[in-house]
Amino acid sequence: MYFCRLIPLLNCKLSTLITIGIIDKNNSWWSHVEMGPPDAILGVTEAFKRDQNPKKINLGVGAYRDDDGKPFVLPSVKKAEENLRVKNLDKEYSPISGSADFCKHAITLALGTDNEAITNGLNSTVQGISGTGSLTIGAHFLSKWFPGNKDIYLPTPSWGNHTPLFKLAGLNVKAYKYYNAKTCGLDFQGLLDDVAKIPEKSIILLHACAHNPTGVDPKPEQWAELSNLIRKKQLFPFFDMAYQGFASGDVMKDSLAVRMFIKEGHNIALAQSFAKNMGLYGERVGAFSLINSDKDEAARTMSQIKILVRPMYSNPPINGARIVSEILGNDELKNQWLVDVKGMADRIISVRSKLRENLKKNGSTRDWSHITDQIGMFCFTGLKAPEVERLTKEFSIYLTKDGRISMAGVTSKNVEYLAHGIHEVTK
Ligand SMILES: Cc1ncc(COP(=O)(O)O)c(C=O)c1O
Repeated sequence: MYFCRLIPLLNCKLSTLITIGIIDKNNSWWSHVEMGPPDAILGVTEAFKRDQNPKKINLGVGAYRDDDGKPFVLPSVKKAEENLRVKNLDKEYSPISGSADFCKHAITLALGTDNEAITNGLNSTVQGISGTGSLTIGAHFLSKWFPGNKDIYLPTPSWGNHTPLFKLAGLNVKAYKYYNAKTCGLDFQGLLDDVAKIPEKSIILLHACAHNPTGVDPKPEQWAELSNLIRKKQLFPFFDMAYQGFASGDVMKDSLAVRMFIKEGHNIALAQSFAKNMGLYGERVGAFSLINSDKDEAARTMSQIKILVRPMYSNPPINGARIVSEILGNDELKNQWLVDVKGMADRIISVRSKLRENLKKNGSTRDWSHITDQIGMFCFTGLKAPEVERLTKEFSIYLTKDGRISMAGVTSKNVEYLAHGIHEVTK
C-alpha cells in the first residue's frame, strides 16, 4: 500500500521532493559537503578522452608512452613476471615494513653497492605504496618525531601532491625559490638566498633528479654548494627520488645528489618510487628510508615507522616488490632493466631535440633551448595560460595550465603537429 503511494513520486525531481518535504535535506549526514574541484592533471585526461579530433595529443599525464603513444611494459618486467609465475609463490601477508629483500635492493639502488651507510646498518628502510605512499610515511614520521619546528620547505613550483600530502600529515608547508620563469632554468641565487633565510632545524624537500614540474635540476657543483648551506643551517633534507634512471638514463648519475649528501654527513630521509623507472605505475611500489647516526638509532626509528604504518594500511602489497626484487636480484635481468630504463630516457631526450628542431623549422624565433636543457619526463615550456588554452581549443593538444608538457607523450609521429601548434599560439 505504502509502495503504491510512492509510485507517482518516482517521476518527481529530487528537488521537488525536498521542497514538498518528502525528503528532509537537513536529515542527510552529508548535506554540508561541497563539491570539490577535479584533480588538475586527471581533469586534463578526462577532457582529452571526450575530444573527437584524430590529431589530439595528451601531454598532461606523467606516464611513459612508446613511440606509438602506447603504454609500455618493460621487457625486464615481463621476464621477471614470467620467472615469478613458475615460482608459484603464496599470497601471504607481507611484514609491516614490506619485503626485506626488496628494501635491501631499493636502498642499494639509491646509494650504490658497498655504500657505508648500508654496510654499517645506518638505514631504516620500509616498503611504501609507490612514491606517494613513501613520502606519506616520511611526512607522518617527521610530523610525529622531528625535533625541529615541523616546517617543511618546498621548491617553487613543486609536484602538485607535495603540499596536500605534507599538510595532511600535520606539517606546515613553506616555500623556497627554485625556478626562474625568465630563463626557464634554475634560479640558483634565489634558491641560495631563500635557503639561507630558512630558520634552523626546519625540513627541506629536494627533488633528487628530474624535478617535476620544471625538468630543471641543479648541476653537481650547485648540489655541493647547497649541501654545505643546508649543513650550515642545520636543515633536515628530505629527498624525493621518483625518477632515478629516468632523467639521464644512468641510475648512478641520477642519484648523485642523494649519495653526495650522505657522503657529506647529512642524515637524510628518502622516498623512492619504481613507478617511472620500472614502469610499475599501478603496482604501487616504492620505499621510504631514513639514514641514521648509528645502528641502534636505525632500529629505534624503524620500530616507530612500523607503528605509524600499521594503522595506515597494515602492510604493503606483495606483487610489485617481488617484480623489483626479481629484477635487481638477478644480474642478467638487472642489466636488461638498465638497458630498458636508458631506452626510455633516450627516447625522451631525442623527442626533446625533435621538438626544438621542428619549432625552428616552423619559423619560431623564440629561444627554445630550455626544451633540451631540461631533463626527465616533463618540460616546463614557458607557455602562458592563454597560449595553453588556445593550444587545447584550436589544436586538441592537452596539457596543464602551467605550460608543463609530459615529454613521454611526444612521439616521432606527433612532434611536427605539436611544434606547429606551439608555434601558432606563440608567434
Ligand atoms: C616528484 C614526484 N614525487 C612523487 C611522485 C609519486 O608518484 P607515484 O606515487 O606514482 O610513485 C611523482 C609522480 O608523478 C612525482 O613526480
